[in-house]
Amino acid sequence: MHDQVRPTPWTTQQAVSKPVLYDELARELDALLIGETDPIANAANAAAAIYHALPDLNWTGFYFVRGHELVLGPFQGRPACSRIPLGKGVCGTAAAQRRSVLVPDVEAFPGHIACDTASRSELVVPLLTADALVGVLDLDSPVLGRFDVRDQVGCEALAAITARHLRAAATARSL
Ligand code: SME
Repeated sequence: MHDQVRPTPWTTQQAVSKPVLYDELARELDALLIGETDPIANAANAAAAIYHALPDLNWTGFYFVRGHELVLGPFQGRPACSRIPLGKGVCGTAAAQRRSVLVPDVEAFPGHIACDTASRSELVVPLLTADALVGVLDLDSPVLGRFDVRDQVGCEALAAITARHLRAAATARSL
């Protein structure tokens, strides 16, 4: 469960509405990632920023596309499965269909992969650049029905910002 006493700047906004929270987090995330050219550093900071900003999460992180699989990237939470085939589980479904998958009750999602038995609901958002699927952003909650369409829209914006910075990092490395 998210620890509300951890002293980070990301924990200061929880009384505001979801759209305001996501707008502010999007700006802070952009500022956090800009100027860094290492994709691992940026993905790690994005996972930590999102995990600490949003309430009632037990896992937040990235899986990246590697061939026909998703491979675990930087995250916050308990250790998770390292590899997920495209099309399997919530993450693999979101990746294969290149769309967000919002699961109010993980027990009602056929094929859900239980990495942390505390998870009750889940939101997975694809990381898309102009021409490619890079991976997915996965958020788990111990609260049933934790995520709604406002979370989906907000997390899609966060994923777009992260994907843009990961792409910028890749471009910088190839120069
Ligand atoms: N529940 C996911 C697996 C990843 S963990 O939640 C971190 C899924 O079904 O794809």
